[in-house]
Amino acid sequence: MKIGIGCDHNGYNFKEIIKEHLKESEFEIIDYGCHSCNAVDYPDVAFEVSKDIGEKRIDRGILICGTGLGVAIAACKYPGIRAATCHDVYSAERAQKSNNAQIITMGAQVIGPELGKKLVEAFLNSSFNEGRSGKKVQKIIDKENEFIRQGSN
Ligand code: RB5
Repeated sequence: MKIGIGCDHNGYNFKEIIKEHLKESEFEIIDYGCHSCNAVDYPDVAFEVSKDIGEKRIDRGILICGTGLGVAIAACKYPGIRAATCHDVYSAERAQKSNNAQIITMGAQVIGPELGKKLVEAFLNSSFNEGRSGKKVQKIIDKENEFIRQGSN
């Protein structure tokens, strides 16, 4: 499974720790930046990761900013993308199992990287429970498609 990881300046140190941690896993990690603590705009990296998931170049994403919120809001603007901010292990697991989220987001100013490691492990090692949750996620997809169709008319 190919995983895109990205951050803004507030998430840079956190991202580096998570990236290092995942080096020993079975996942292929692709770094979308940023590559230093110099200020960048979080929507730019979030859009890149979402686009590559939408275009099937990568399977899942990990996004980090100060709170985890800005990158989640931005990532979800890309059609078909479900990004979930998770700061506890249970939510990280459910984001995948119940919501089929392709992206986990975290806030480097909210939690520490040790918890971050556990969150990405829970997220990446879970898979969508189509049976119980398929109908509900499909409703979200259908509603989004309805808005897209309205917008193109
Ligand atoms: C900085 O731009 C800060 O707003 C960002 O790291 C993040 O917390 C946004 O949600």
